[in-house]
Amino acid sequence: MKVIAEATDELAKNAAERLGFGSWTSDWRRVTADPSVQIVDVMTPTYLHKDPAIDALEHGKAVICEKPLASNERDAREMYEVAKRTGAKTLVGFNYRRTPAVTLARQMIAKGELGRISHVRSHFMEDWGGPQFPLSWRFRPEQAGAGALADLGSHAIDMVRYLVGEPKEVCAAAENFIPERMVPGGKTKEPSRVDDVTMTLMRLEGGAIAEVGASWIATGRKVQLDFEVQGSEGTIYFTMERPNELQFYSARDPKEASGFRTIYFGPAHKYGETLLFSSATMGTGYVDSVMNQMHDFLLALGGGEEYSPSFYDGWRVNRLIEAVLESSKKKAWVTVA
Ligand SMILES: NC(=O)c1ccc[n+]([C@@H]2O[C@H](COP(=O)([O-])OP(=O)(O)OC[C@H]3O[C@@H](n4cnc5c(N)ncnc54)[C@H](O)[C@@H]3O)[C@@H](O)[C@H]2O)c1
Repeated sequence: MKVIAEATDELAKNAAERLGFGSWTSDWRRVTADPSVQIVDVMTPTYLHKDPAIDALEHGKAVICEKPLASNERDAREMYEVAKRTGAKTLVGFNYRRTPAVTLARQMIAKGELGRISHVRSHFMEDWGGPQFPLSWRFRPEQAGAGALADLGSHAIDMVRYLVGEPKEVCAAAENFIPERMVPGGKTKEPSRVDDVTMTLMRLEGGAIAEVGASWIATGRKVQLDFEVQGSEGTIYFTMERPNELQFYSARDPKEASGFRTIYFGPAHKYGETLLFSSATMGTGYVDSVMNQMHDFLLALGGGEEYSPSFYDGWRVNRLIEAVLESSKKKAWVTVA
């Protein structure tokens, strides 16, 4: 934690004192060019990811960047191409992959425990984005790329790619329900032109069909990042509202004992060593998923292994976000190259 950049001197100084950084600046170039810095973590609003990330890569740093990677596919592809050219290790912040029950789901699918996958449903629903929520960059298409689709749906899309496979065709409906929002601190309203709810059908590589959805006006839903994956031999269900649990139905169970069972995250699973006590269900949550992500990235840096999700995955998700918006606009299926 050498140096932190913020938008103004005052914000930077406060952040450095609060978080314990060695120094601060209101010019992010002082971070990306600092020879003593090895890893740059870009956590600015989405439209301010590209320039610092590329500058850091050009200075030979490993780069962590929040999701979605960029506010459009062109910028995301450029970021990925610079990462490829410089050979740098990169991370895009799809942290939910490293919630232990999600990692377990992926292992079970890869081992064939669900058989042939026919259907996956992946949603991310929250309820903070109603009309009371003030205007910010998140509600400007040119800065955020999209609304709920980019903010929450990017995680849901990444989940489908991580668990089952790459989407090849999409057919979507994206809707704006709140066309104007209050300017912060002001008495005026300005237009909000992004999607508040987006639902998409996807055909995946390998033949499965996915339903992918995002909403920030899903009344009552707090962090309902959930998925169900159905295959010929079994089904799994997960919701981030119960992050220590994975529901599993196996068609191989004896008929008299068939039914969904709850697998509790515990010491037997990957990341189980992070539990303070040795009992399952003692608790893992959002923060653990971020810590697991940073832990694995540092291991990859030290050991020279590949890290995923990288800027490649970030670019693919940006590509899919644009295809979803195009499909909704055209009211037609769109092929994703
Ligand atoms: N992975 C996750 O779970 C997760 C969760 C929340 C946000 N995000 C992502 O993180 C990013 C930031 O989101 P947020 O809600 O924190 O946004 P935000 O609007 O709160 O801004 C983040 C910070 O960037 C600072 N900033 C703005 N301009 C700057 C500049 N020129 N130089 C340095 N700092 C500057 C702001 O002052 C603020 O402290 C977005 O891309 C978002 O999608 C990811």
